[in-house]
Amino acid sequence: MISQPSLKTLAGTCAAALFLCWGLTLALAKPDVSPRPAPDPKLGEVVYQESCARCHGPAGAGDGPDAKRMEPKPRNLAEGIFKFRTTASGTPPTDEDLFRTLSTGLPGSRMPDFQRLPEETRWQLVYHVKSLSKVFEETRPEPIHLGTDPGSKGANLEKGKELFAQLGCVACHGTHGRGDGPSAATLVDNWGLPIRAADLTHGYSYRAGSSAGDVVARLLAGIDGTPMPSYVDAVSKEDAWQMAYYVRSIQEKPRWARAIEAVRVEGELPGDPSDARWDSAPRADLRLASGLYREGKVLPAAVTAVMVKALYNDKEIAFRLAWHDPSRNDTEPADRASLFLIPDRRAKFQIGSLRSWPASSDAPSLEQLAWSAEGTSGKAAFADGRWELVVSRPLSPAGGVGLTPEGRPILLGIAVWDGGNGETDRHRANSNWVDLVLK
Ligand code: HEC
Ligand code: HEC
Repeated sequence: MISQPSLKTLAGTCAAALFLCWGLTLALAKPDVSPRPAPDPKLGEVVYQESCARCHGPAGAGDGPDAKRMEPKPRNLAEGIFKFRTTASGTPPTDEDLFRTLSTGLPGSRMPDFQRLPEETRWQLVYHVKSLSKVFEETRPEPIHLGTDPGSKGANLEKGKELFAQLGCVACHGTHGRGDGPSAATLVDNWGLPIRAADLTHGYSYRAGSSAGDVVARLLAGIDGTPMPSYVDAVSKEDAWQMAYYVRSIQEKPRWARAIEAVRVEGELPGDPSDARWDSAPRADLRLASGLYREGKVLPAAVTAVMVKALYNDKEIAFRLAWHDPSRNDTEPADRASLFLIPDRRAKFQIGSLRSWPASSDAPSLEQLAWSAEGTSGKAAFADGRWELVVSRPLSPAGGVGLTPEGRPILLGIAVWDGGNGETDRHRANSNWVDLVLK
């Protein structure tokens, strides 16, 4: 937005080129004229009932028909607690904060983005959301000044890392930011439900943006309704930015893939997940989605992605899986993982998604390579909230799925059970089916 003084300066400096300046001033002055439409409560209500009520409920009480099986739950918009703000803790969000939530959605939750609706309609929704709660009449939003972005070049990552430990972020988010801090397992939100400290290495699953500026806003404003406090009185603006750039530096770039390419090696296959020979295989990341939600009983799913590599020789194929899990559990319910192979691609249509397996008895069977942390041998390792595991099988086992180099791709899926979350049977995190290709 252009402020009055800068417009004046602009007008002064280019007084000679009057025509040009007149046009330019008009164009630049435009953002000052609010792009927001005047409130149209009827329109807001109609669009809200169409697009939001199924989750947030007709009056915003968070009790829509689709809300039951959701984790985290759709917000009770009448209650007036908002997580993602640029305002002081305990004060409501700004209109821009709400507009942003509607425009970008909240990744890592079921709250969708509403890019498909014109901006004007989104503003009507902002007004409607504000009409659902008294908090907007009773409490003024207190925007927090976020300080000055030093830019990534001005960021001192060492300092940021120190602050991350000093300020106690590690208690919840863990030393490496994988959501595995000592307090992580006990966190509960304002509504009495268990909540996960975000895995900060998974930038793609931050609800409200993963840029340094977004992180600074979360740090200074806190995330109301959750155990994540506001640090506005605990840290200077400069330090907040250093920490935000540190957080940004631990975000790992995901390599989402629809195919896993196994690479051929001579001699024995590596049995150890830390063997240097794994470097020669391309990494494929698969997203995992949780199968079932048992109300009140389970923690929200922690395992949201698995990293896969594959190597083969003339006899065998080995897979290396790695995933983040806040705790190691090697007694029942133990951490487990399975790799599934579909014997014939055409059977996919009968099997459906991995989520629906095991299906009815007449459905075609899958080949399952199962691993459990119970009695784990040297082929798996757990450290700092991360499992690494190697599983292998013959290329063509008797009665199993035959794999041939340059042959037709085979369909593969992965399921991970988090024992610390009480996950057993169909309650687990599943991938989609992807192609397994032997190069
Ligand atoms: C499919 C379900 C679903 C739909 C449809 C949906 N939401 Fe949400 N919404 C959620 C969930 C789940 C959350 C809570 C996410 C969290 O706690 O991290 C949420 C959170 C919110 C929040 C709170 C943000 C904050 O800072 O705490 C607002 C505001 C909101 N939704 C508005 C809307 C509006 C307006 C619409 C319709 C245009 C809408 N939602 C449609 C599921 C939905
Ligand atoms: C008491 C536990 C706790 C502490 C301490 C804590 N956090 Fe969090 N943090 C959480 C929880 C819980 C969430 C997830 C909130 C949710 O899912 O709605 C979270 C989420 C986040 C997010 C993700 C925001 C988004 O858009 O999804 C960031 C970034 C973050 N924390 C950074 C930090 C940093 C940096 C510190 C230290 C200055 C810190 N947190 C301290 C519990 C904590």
